[in-house]
Amino acid sequence: MAINWYPGHMHKAQKEIKQALPGVDLIIEVVDARIPFSSANPVIADLSQTKGLNKPIIKVINKTDLADPTITQLWCDYLDQQQGVKALPVTANKPEQVKKIIALCRKLAPHRVEKELPVRAMIMGIPNVGKSTIINILSGRTIAKVGNEPAVTQRQQRIDLDEGVTLFDTPGILWPKIENSHSSYRLAITGAIKDTALDYDDIAFYAMDYLSESYQAALQEKFGLTELGQDALASLEAIGRKRGCLKAGGRVDLDKVCKILIHEYRNAGLGTISLETPAMIEKELIELAEKIRLKEEKKAARKKNFKKKKR
Ligand code: G4P
Repeated sequence: MAINWYPGHMHKAQKEIKQALPGVDLIIEVVDARIPFSSANPVIADLSQTKGLNKPIIKVINKTDLADPTITQLWCDYLDQQQGVKALPVTANKPEQVKKIIALCRKLAPHRVEKELPVRAMIMGIPNVGKSTIINILSGRTIAKVGNEPAVTQRQQRIDLDEGVTLFDTPGILWPKIENSHSSYRLAITGAIKDTALDYDDIAFYAMDYLSESYQAALQEKFGLTELGQDALASLEAIGRKRGCLKAGGRVDLDKVCKILIHEYRNAGLGTISLETPAMIEKELIELAEKIRLKEEKKAARKKNFKKKKR
């Protein structure tokens, strides 16, 4: 499943961020705790290092109430090891956790605090990670959303917080291209990718493969199964029979089962479940790099052949 959303819109947003970066002290990137890698914008790290700007990044790992706490801890340790990155796990259900962002901003920009100047923080995140919810908690009021949709006017918004921090809200930027296909699936499972763009069956099969390997007990308990099927199809059919999703003739209505599984996941009906770990991502990135290398090699060979033939 390859997804490449609104490339023009993304390009514009990135350009705007690049222009605005020199005027801020740090970046706050909100990500989804269930998919801290897949919901991050890969260009943010690059942009923060543009022309040696070296802006610190606070990775706000939001929605921890939906994620596996052990895996969230692994992510925090992993991200904290990256240069200039500080991870902060939060859930919007606990505003006191979200408010820690302010103290962290002040800690990361002592030069501004010493001069009694507001710390300028650019806040960003792909749609649906909870960025607006966090801004509302920090500001104590409801701030109108900046446009996430391509049709909505893209504008940066300035929000002065009482505690000596000014937020610059950027439009919900997406990523240039999701190269890791696993990330596309995970974004779809969590609901970050709008349902109209997806095939439920496709993502439910992916989810079932993963869940039956990593969260077998949670699946069995939720759907009252003594055991799972031999493969994703058999497990989905077993759930279908349990939930009475049957078509005429007694065949399982797979479309319906797939929707049930995804909705249960999104509503935390299966419990706290993370869809990726740092180790999984490390492995996938190595595989991806190899895939890209082979592709480039093939391309170069084709070019060489073409030139030879032309001579
Ligand atoms: P965005 O600006 O990044 O696009 O995200 P937004 O704040 O609009 O949040 C997207 C959805 O995620 C909202 O739900 C919001 O309530 C939910 N959300 C935000 N933070 C958390 C969190 O820490 N935990 C959980 N469980 N959910 C969170 P929604 O159903 O789309 O909207 P609504 O019904 O809440 O209005």
